[in-house]
Amino acid sequence: MRSLWVSVVFGAVVAIALGAVRSSADAPKPVKPIEKPDHVTPPTEAPDLDPPSGTPCVRRDFKTELVKNACAAGGQKAAKDAMKQFQTDHKIKACLACHQKLAPKYELKADGLDQFHKAGGK
Ligand code: HEC
Repeated sequence: MRSLWVSVVFGAVVAIALGAVRSSADAPKPVKPIEKPDHVTPPTEAPDLDPPSGTPCVRRDFKTELVKNACAAGGQKAAKDAMKQFQTDHKIKACLACHQKLAPKYELKADGLDQFHKAGGK
């Protein structure tokens, strides 16, 4: 009696195994992966597109040397790079700590300039 059960169980296992092999062979081809878009923008705190090169700064009246010099040297793109560097150097978390908005006008918060000076900016 016992051997009958053994063969039943064994048979079932074999059947399952065969079924698994068969179904994996019959399985449909994996779906083509979705193509990535060409421009994958890294996640940022807020969308802030790089200004086209040659875009001058919005400000005409500068309160800081950093931004004044950067704007003179390379327009808004350079100012942005300088700000990024400043932010990293001073371990400030976000552009929006000081700025109310980013591109295109980079309006400051009421205390934006203050924060800049307090952080040690010139
Ligand atoms: C500590 C405060 C502070 C932080 C943080 C900060 N900014 Fe600024 N940003 C300023 C101030 C102040 C000005 C104006 C400078 C002036 O009047 O000379 C300015 C000006 C700018 C300008 C010039 C805009 C124009 O066209 O006149 C850009 C671009 C800019 N910031 C980008 C950024 C970006 C991008 C970040 C984040 C990486 C950032 N800022 C973070 C304080 C800050």
